Amino acid sequence: MLKIGHRGAKAYDPENTLQAFQKALDLNSDGIELDVHLSADGHIIVIHDETIDRTTNGKGLVNTFTLAELKSFLIDGENQIPTLNEVFDLVDKKCLINIELKGSGTASKVVVLIEEYIATKNWNYNHFIISSFDWNMLEETSKLNSNIPIGVLTEESIDTALAFAENIKAKAIHPDFQLLNADNVSEMQKKGFLVLPWTVNSEEDIQKVKSYQVNGIISDNPDKI
Ligand code: G3P
Ligand code: CA
Repeated sequence: MLKIGHRGAKAYDPENTLQAFQKALDLNSDGIELDVHLSADGHIIVIHDETIDRTTNGKGLVNTFTLAELKSFLIDGENQIPTLNEVFDLVDKKCLINIELKGSGTASKVVVLIEEYIATKNWNYNHFIISSFDWNMLEETSKLNSNIPIGVLTEESIDTALAFAENIKAKAIHPDFQLLNADNVSEMQKKGFLVLPWTVNSEEDIQKVKSYQVNGIISDNPDKI
């Protein structure tokens, strides 16, 4: 049962910050989940929304700012928006990193960065899983490097996700936990996929999905899994 900290450990620290990722490590998480967009100058930025409005003291679209400009904004008065490289360096192979592709253009940049860490820093493919609701980006990822593990995100249909996962030879399916029951979890696993539902936070929901024998859980409070 993999314990994966959603946006770090969102229940305890500001989401998608180095502080939250360190917290997830301190809680002995097996993995962290994070979201990525590109800056105007092509850096991979770890942030959930396409704007900086909700989480920082600035306003505007992430992809209209350079990295230097994005670094001038603060999250909760003290944290800067991290780059994906900074998160990789913090984690340093200590847990799985689930990178959710949000912004356009992220697939090819993330593939290059993963390849660089594998080639030069002794990481391996099992340290990563790339997921997205945008299945075109998952297809692009798989075409660029078929060794990178893929998790198919769905909030609509297990059947459609299952068909797509078979098509691109994904490693996992990441469903909204409310779509799950014991039968469909077993069906996905029999077809060879890990089942990693999100975002399961309450004790009651955690117990429910655990009873379906999922392979892991993505949670704001990974310590409760
Ligand atoms: O990866 C699962 C989950 O993070 C998807 O939803 O909106 O939190 O990115 P969201
Ligand atoms: Ca996410």
